[in-house]
Amino acid sequence: MNSKLDFIFNRRSVRNFTAKAVSEEDITELLEAAMAAPSACAKDPWRFIVVRNRENLRQITELLPNGKFLAEAPVGIIVCGDIGSVHAGSESYMLQDCSAAIENILLAATALGLGTCWLGVHPRTERITGITNFFELPANIVPVSVIAAGHPEKMPGKNTRFMPNNIHWEKW
Ligand SMILES: Cc1cc2nc3c(=O)[nH]c(=O)nc-3n(C[C@H](O)[C@H](O)[C@H](O)COP(=O)(O)O)c2cc1C
Repeated sequence: MNSKLDFIFNRRSVRNFTAKAVSEEDITELLEAAMAAPSACAKDPWRFIVVRNRENLRQITELLPNGKFLAEAPVGIIVCGDIGSVHAGSESYMLQDCSAAIENILLAATALGLGTCWLGVHPRTERITGITNFFELPANIVPVSVIAAGHPEKMPGKNTRFMPNNIHWEKW
């Protein structure tokens, strides 16, 4: 692992956070990083809802069976796509664009000393419906994921799941 890439290898899912709040400046920087991601034809169909209210985080957690720890996280970022803005009206591009933005948030958070965990929403119908109803989202807005973020209890340590067998050179 090349140490120049530590900001990538150090990004690990963090599910336990200290009580320390995440500053508005840090949150804005995460979203600045998100919106520096590539998107098809630069349509930038990503939209973000920042949630810090404890009761709202607790209620969102009830919609995410594998994200119970969000109830204790200082901040949740709901990443949504605008199907009305995406290139070619394509759901696939929307998901790819939002995923690029999500990964930028996770990497930026690592660089700022924050921990994050990507919580899947799309394509689980019941989670999409739950988040849509909770936030009363307009019909063109599709929730893609929730990111839990905060100051980590401890950083899990750097990692890669590098597998030479996953790589094909020149031909399959
Ligand atoms: C699309 C997607 C959905 C995920 N959903 C969850 C989730 O609901 N709960 C959770 O704890 N982690 C979730 N994760 C995080 C993965 O479990 C985690 O990235 C994976 O185990 C690898 O570990 P690492 O992030 O520490 O490298 C999700 C990751 C992705 C990309």
